[in-house]
Amino acid sequence: MSSGEKYLLEVQGLTKRFPVRGGILGRELTAVKAVNDVSFGIKKGETLGLVGESGCGKTTLGRCILRLIEPTAGKILYNGEDVIQFDKNQMRRIRRKMQIIFQDPYASLNPRMTVGSILSEPMNIHQLFLEKNERKKRLYELLDCVHLPKDVLNKYPHEFSGGQRQRICIARALAVEPEFIVCDEPVSALDVSVQAQVVNLLMDLQKELGLTYLFIAHDLKVVEYISSRVAVMYLGHTVELASSSELYGASKHPYTKALFSAIPKPDPINKQERIILQGDLPSPMNPPNGCHFHPRCWLKSDLCLKDYPNVTKQSHSHEFRCFHPTA
Ligand SMILES: Nc1ncnc2c1ncn2[C@@H]1O[C@H](COP(=O)(O)OP(=O)(O)OP(=O)(O)O)[C@@H](O)[C@H]1O
Ligand SMILES: [Mg+2]
Repeated sequence: MSSGEKYLLEVQGLTKRFPVRGGILGRELTAVKAVNDVSFGIKKGETLGLVGESGCGKTTLGRCILRLIEPTAGKILYNGEDVIQFDKNQMRRIRRKMQIIFQDPYASLNPRMTVGSILSEPMNIHQLFLEKNERKKRLYELLDCVHLPKDVLNKYPHEFSGGQRQRICIARALAVEPEFIVCDEPVSALDVSVQAQVVNLLMDLQKELGLTYLFIAHDLKVVEYISSRVAVMYLGHTVELASSSELYGASKHPYTKALFSAIPKPDPINKQERIILQGDLPSPMNPPNGCHFHPRCWLKSDLCLKDYPNVTKQSHSHEFRCFHPTA
C-alpha cells in the first residue's frame, strides 16, 4: 500500500480485536474485530481524512496509532521507527510528537481546572517551559495561536462556548509542540456556524506549524475541504483510499459511491442519483464471510460471498478492495 514513499506516519496491517469474555472462567468467547489489517501512510504536512459509518473502527484506529489502546497486530512506523516496539521512555518521547483532539470538548476538559492549569499540565508532564516567565510566554503564545484572549487563563471550562472549548483543547494539544495530531471528529459536536471556524483554524495552524493530521469525520463535505487524501472504512477495513478529488469524482467501491451520493450537489444538470443502502452495518463481532460489504451491495457476485478482495491499485494515489468496481 505504501511502496517506497517517505511517510511521517505509516500504518502496516494494523489490527485491533477486543476480546469478549464470558462464563465463570472468563474465557474469550469471541472478539470484536474493530480494526482489520489496515495499511496507509501520511506524509509530513498532509491531512488524511478518515470516513465511514458509526462503529466501523475510526476511533479505535486513531487510538491504536497513539497507543492509547494496544493494537493486536501490525506496525505503526513514525519516521520509520516502529512505535509498537517502543519502551516506556521512548513512548514518552514520541507522545510529545503525537497528540489527539477529541470529539466532545465538554467531556475532555476537567471542569475543576482553570484554562491555565489545563494548558500547563502537558508541559509539566513533558518538563517543558518550566521557568516561570518562559511558561507565561508560552501560555500567551498558545492562546494567540487559537485566537483566545489572555484573560481566559484564570477561567474555568464551563465559562466557554463549545467552539471556545474546542479551541482550548487544540491549544492543549499544541502545548507540547507536536508534529502529528489525530483529530477525532473535532467539529461534530459543534454548531454548524462554529464548525467552519474551527476547521479553518486547524488548517491555518497546519500551514503555520507544519502539522500533519489524521482527520476523522462523519461530515463528508468537511473531510473533502480539509483533506488531501481520504480513506474510507467499512467494518474495520479500509475499502478505498484516494486523493479527495478522485474519491469525490471517480470512486470505485460501491460503498464509497453510496456514501458520497448522499452529499447534495449544487449542479442541477449533472445531478447524481442517491443510493440508499439496504440493511444496517453488520456486527464487527460476527462479520459476513467474503467481502464484508456484500450483504448490502447491489453488484455482488458469488465470488464476493467467498473471498475478501485484495487491494487493487487504480493509480499511484488510488486503491480499493472490490471485485466489481464501479465505473
Ligand atoms: N473498549 C472496547 N471494547 C469492546 N469493543 C469496543 C471497544 N471500543 C470500541 N469497540 C467496538 O469496536 C467497534 C469500532 O468502534 P469505534 O468507536 O472505533 O467506531 P467509530 O468508527 O469511531 O464510530 P463512531 O463514528 O460512532 O465514533 C464498535 O463495534 C465498538 O462497539
Ligand atoms: Mg469514533
